Amino acid sequence: MAETTIDLRGVPLAEAYDELSAQIDTVLAGIGDPVAAMATISALIHQGFGHLWTGFYRVVEPGRLLRVGPYQGTLGCMEIEFGRGVCGTAAAEQRTVIVDDVSSFAGHITCDPRSRSEIVVPVFDRNHALIAVLDIDSDRPSTFGDADREGLERAMQWFREHV
Ligand code: SME
Repeated sequence: MAETTIDLRGVPLAEAYDELSAQIDTVLAGIGDPVAAMATISALIHQGFGHLWTGFYRVVEPGRLLRVGPYQGTLGCMEIEFGRGVCGTAAAEQRTVIVDDVSSFAGHITCDPRSRSEIVVPVFDRNHALIAVLDIDSDRPSTFGDADREGLERAMQWFREHV
């Protein structure tokens, strides 16, 4: 395999996310395994953008419980109940949640105290069942906006098309 992780820091966001989606399709060509995809996509996003923590929490009990999946960064917490923290809120409400300042989000779960802002994006399979959430943490406040929401939701389409 010849692909290398592209450094997307400093690239305009729309272009960076175009590049990310293209790279996901290239690297995962012929693969339909969601765990392999979660590991690969975590690496591409984490290394590409230089985030603090990038990874997936998988739905292990629908409507009730998330458990940590493939990720890059410091140790993540093992399980999150639906409705708890940013991940549990995104899972319960099945929508992307952006938090500019984690200290002002009631119930935020602190895994790495350096985390200042985050985005959590729901991940659906081809039957529109929620299978996971993508969680990205930044060590700077207000890191994520609409361009990130759009780009990451588009990246998560991979699961809609392959799982
Ligand atoms: N910040 C998350 C918890 C998971 S970790 O950051 C890895 C939350 O409040 O959902």
